[in-house]
Amino acid sequence: MFRPHVVAGNWKMHKGVGEAESFVRQLEDRLEEPSRRDLIEEDLLEVVIYPTALCVHSCLISRSSDLIQVGAQNGHWEIKGAYTGEVSIGSFAEEGCGYILIGHSERRSLFGETDQDVRRKVEAVMGTGAKAMVCVGELLSEREEGRTFQVVGSQVRSAVNGLPEEFVSKRLTIAYEPVWAIGTGRTASASDAQEVCAHIRGILKEIFGPQVANGVRILYGGSVKRDNTFDILKEPDVDGLLVGGASLEVDSFLGIVDEAI
Ligand code: G3P
Repeated sequence: MFRPHVVAGNWKMHKGVGEAESFVRQLEDRLEEPSRRDLIEEDLLEVVIYPTALCVHSCLISRSSDLIQVGAQNGHWEIKGAYTGEVSIGSFAEEGCGYILIGHSERRSLFGETDQDVRRKVEAVMGTGAKAMVCVGELLSEREEGRTFQVVGSQVRSAVNGLPEEFVSKRLTIAYEPVWAIGTGRTASASDAQEVCAHIRGILKEIFGPQVANGVRILYGGSVKRDNTFDILKEPDVDGLLVGGASLEVDSFLGIVDEAI
């Protein structure tokens, strides 16, 4: 089944405001080239950037079109409250963010984010017009113990069980990011990525049925570069890529976009 490809760049804690604005303008100019623009305007391809929270607003206003979706790397599930240092998911969505990234492994490992926190954030996105991109993935030790399906399956079920089908089919994206591939230069093989993405799709089918499950985009992330993009994206259950390091330079990010077309 055809699903529009998504290429998303997670800048993590890189780029100040000036650099971010310049990046958006350069990227947009390059996406204006007809071969790229037409695919985006025909909803066959989505290009998403996840700047730091400080840069979200300036990235949004630096755009001259919707060729680039701007997302938030995280957010709090409450709209308002005594949560020093937090920014609400509702505020990011109100500002114009098209995606909210949820449950990235760095949020889980460095900031103690639990499956319950992830679920609360998914439900907060439901109350907005944005889409949720939920990250799941196993540790190397869990893979070596043969527990990848168990770990990833548990993360997926916790995030999606009981969600409305309308939201799941239209505004949920799942990003499989094996933790051992993030920032390591050790990319999962295309078959490894396919195996886990197919397992995720199977869980979605079990819960929501095949029609809804087949509408959900499932991405792979973890040391994606231009030279491994084609092989990973030709897998039937991989619908896009969540890119870290290679998304920080326009040329390397566009190289991946062009392979995803
Ligand atoms: O969210 C994407 C990120 O975790 C992957 O990072 O540098 O391995 O592409 P990287």
